[in-house]
Amino acid sequence: MKDVEDLLSNRLLMVARLVKPCESIYDIGTDHCYLPIYMIQKGIIKRAVATDVKKGPVQIALRNINIFGLDTYIDVFVSDGISHVGQDSNIIISGMGADVIIEILTEGIHYAKNANQIIIQCQSKTERLRSFLWDNGFYIEEEALCKEKDKVYNAFRVSYCGVKQIYTEIETIASKKLVKMHHPLLTDYISCHIRKLEDIISGYKASNVVFSKEEELKRALEEINENN
Ligand SMILES: C[S@@+](CC[C@H](N)C(=O)[O-])C[C@H]1O[C@@H](n2cnc3c(N)ncnc32)[C@H](O)[C@@H]1O
Repeated sequence: MKDVEDLLSNRLLMVARLVKPCESIYDIGTDHCYLPIYMIQKGIIKRAVATDVKKGPVQIALRNINIFGLDTYIDVFVSDGISHVGQDSNIIISGMGADVIIEILTEGIHYAKNANQIIIQCQSKTERLRSFLWDNGFYIEEEALCKEKDKVYNAFRVSYCGVKQIYTEIETIASKKLVKMHHPLLTDYISCHIRKLEDIISGYKASNVVFSKEEELKRALEEINENN
């Protein structure tokens, strides 16, 4: 059997490593289906259900599953979000922005709350996603960062605990977990946020708007970087 590992990006390898080994996984927005194929090849899971909201990606997924000889182990179909998952499911939502992920979780909140584990890899506005998860009683069990072509990506493993988390705005960017880990990529990750804040601050300066909140956030992030 061909090995899909050569085709997997660091980002997808990071997602796969966060998965607690289990019988079956739902890969939402599967596109090429490399994650389920890889996880079956490595014995992390035995079976998978791979879905995508668009027909094109589902056809690509079917072709790849066939190339890797896994037709009997992976079901693929068109589906929007997570409303097709069962009780105690294991779910991956990877490669989408926070707004889409929040929409998927909100529309399927019953299924999200009943999942064993949800592995989320968010491509943008991760702060917003963390706030959503913490406000809605989800617990971030484990976090990871990885670098690919100068960009730092993050991912978490989440489950529902029913208790709203108390957090600060700074923790939505640099969570206590990442800070405590002294993650080697945290400095790069934070520096990217600092640059975004600097852009906002210079825009505010140009139009004489008060920007104290952004200044404060920037200082707090710089302090975390100094201690990392
Ligand atoms: C950029 S690809 C990510 C592919 C793969 N999961 C990864 O991490 O590389 C995002 C995929 O999510 C799909 N998608 C977007 N919204 C979706 C939804 N509500 N339900 C299912 N799939 C969705 C898109 O069609 C697209 O194929």
